This record gives sequence, C-alpha cells and structure tokens, in this order.
Amino acid sequence: MIVLGVESSCDETGLALYDTEQGLLAHALHSQVEMHAEYGGVVPELASRDHIRRVLPLTENVLKTANKTLQDIDAIAYTQGPGLSGALLVGTSFAESLAFSLQVPTINVHHLEGHLLAPLLEANPPAFPFVALLVSGGHSQLMRVDGIGEYELLGDTLDDAAGEAFDKTAKLLGLGYPGGPALSKLAQSGKARFKLPRPLLNSGDLNFSFSGLKTAVLTLVNQHQPLDATTTADIAWEFQEAVTEILTLKCMTALRETGLDNLVVSGGVGANSKLREKLNAATKRKLCKVSYPRLEFCTDNGAMIAFAGAMRLKAMHGNGNRNYGFSVRPR
Ligand code: KG4
Ligand code: ZN
Repeated sequence: MIVLGVESSCDETGLALYDTEQGLLAHALHSQVEMHAEYGGVVPELASRDHIRRVLPLTENVLKTANKTLQDIDAIAYTQGPGLSGALLVGTSFAESLAFSLQVPTINVHHLEGHLLAPLLEANPPAFPFVALLVSGGHSQLMRVDGIGEYELLGDTLDDAAGEAFDKTAKLLGLGYPGGPALSKLAQSGKARFKLPRPLLNSGDLNFSFSGLKTAVLTLVNQHQPLDATTTADIAWEFQEAVTEILTLKCMTALRETGLDNLVVSGGVGANSKLREKLNAATKRKLCKVSYPRLEFCTDNGAMIAFAGAMRLKAMHGNGNRNYGFSVRPR
C-alpha cells in the first residue's frame, strides 16, 4: 500500500510517499525558516498562508519523483496535532478532501509519534522494544516503546523543552532564529570557562527541567555586558554541555531501569552533534545500541508522517478513517 504523508504542524510543509512493500519512495520539504527569521520566531498566520502555497506543488513533486499518479495513493496520513491550529488545518483539510475525492482512507497521526518512529525509516532499523528520547522544540520525553502504539511515558520536562531552551538561550545570546543550530555552531568555537547548573541531574527520576538553565544564562549575560564574541561562544559551549550531559545521563538511567539495551533518539535536538557524541560514547561503554534518524528527518518532515501512518494502517488491516470530517488537535 502506498501512503501519502502530510506534515504542516509548524513552519515546515512536508510531503512524502511511503510504500509498505518498498519503503520510502519520495519526500519533499519546504522550510519557512527564512520567512520567519526577521520576526525572531514563527508567525502563525504567515505559516498557514505559506502551507497553502506549498502543499499542492509539493504533492505534485513527490508523485513525479516516485513516478506515481494520484490514483496510486492507497491512503493519506496527516499530522492532526499538536501544533499551530491554522497550520494544522491546512494539511488536515487538504488531506481529508483529497482522500474524499480519491475515496481512500485517512490516518490522523500524532506529530510526536511521527518523530518517535522516524529512526525506523533508516536501514537496519532498531527492533522493539527500545527506549526513545524525543527532544524537539515542544517536547522532551523519555519513553519505553514496545511496538506501534505501545508507548509508556518514563519522563517528561517540567517546564521548557530541550529545543525551546536552545532557542530561548540563543535569543539571550543575540543569535538568530532558529536558535538551536546557531547556538550549536557557535559552541564549537567556545571552551570550558563558566559553570552552569545541571537541573534535576540527580533527581532520581527521569524528568527534565531546563528553564533554570536559561535563567542562569541570563545572569551570566547581565554580568558580562557588553558581551564579546569569546564570552558568547563560551556561554554557548557550557549551555550545550549542560543540556547534553543531562539528556545523556537520563537516557542511560532509563536504559538501566527498563533493562533494555536499545536507545532511539528523535526530534530536532537529535540533530545536535554534541548530543550524538555523548550518547555514542555512553552507549558504547554500556554495550548498548543507539539509533538516530538521518539529519533531515530529525526536524519536521513528511516522511515520518507517511511512515507512522503506514504502520498504523497495517495495524488496522488497511482500515483507515472514511468519514472525511476533520478537526485539529493543537494541544
Ligand atoms: O522537531 P522539530 O523540528 O520541531 C518540533 O516538533 O518542535 O525541532 C525543532 C527544534 C528547535 O527548537 C531547534 O532549535 C532544535 O530543534 N534544533 C537543535 C538543532 N537542530 C534543531 N537544537 C540543538 N542543536 C541542533 N543542531
Ligand atoms: Zn516536530
């Protein structure tokens, strides 16, 4: 079965075709990052309007790349939430109306399930069960995953998500949007000079808290006015060090407590090379395996939605929704 995947929850329009027999056939993405950069963050109304402009050309693009026509589509999967309501409505209404016209079923996908399963799109995918670290702009969660739809939440953030902490800290340091990649790049030229706290590092549970870290950065920034380039890079270095140390330690605790030896990392922060370096070393020491999606599938994309939809459809023996009504679930 061939599933068209539609992602429009935030500032990326992602389309993809996934074949349950042959795997990923094609994917295409339009990122609105440049459009929102001058505002320092995503402007929801602009995001919605841009999704409208992109969704049809991108659909044509993936069909052409895969050498398929609309008639080859067996089902349509789309992100129903969480995300920006206007942005979600574009993908949702597009997916449901196209499915209605083709008389094929739809599968509404939870955006986080898309991220969670993204590493399974790679060659030699990790086998169930595994521990998943999901670190994106909106979430920081540790989960035990026993199969499609079998997710147990082990730990969550009590305040900011990891990506959110990167973005807010980058803003404090005067870096552009999106902050995560910019901060990470700057940290490469920094060194160990400051000491930031490691909130909840030894809390005995698997929860995270990153907002105190951001406040500690603000204090440093205020103490070192005017900020010079070296100080900015050194603060970035220590911030990245603190976040990646916490994430790594909690992942290792989760593996130990569940007795599993398989770790899967996903979400935008999963693209962070320092995090990958630390996780690779820690899992190697404990003889565990760690898997990541390819870099372009760490952040939002249509491939993960097509894949999660295809897995759901398989589990439902091909019976998706056929009522063609729709609503979004922003939260
Ligand atoms: O998964 P994603 O595309 O969107 C959400 O569903 O939230 O993640 C975006 C987040 C942003 O906060 C961005 O700053 C962060 O992931 N991010 C990074 C890196 N690349 C993206 N954070 C740290 N290092 C990176 N290399
Ligand atoms: Zn996302």
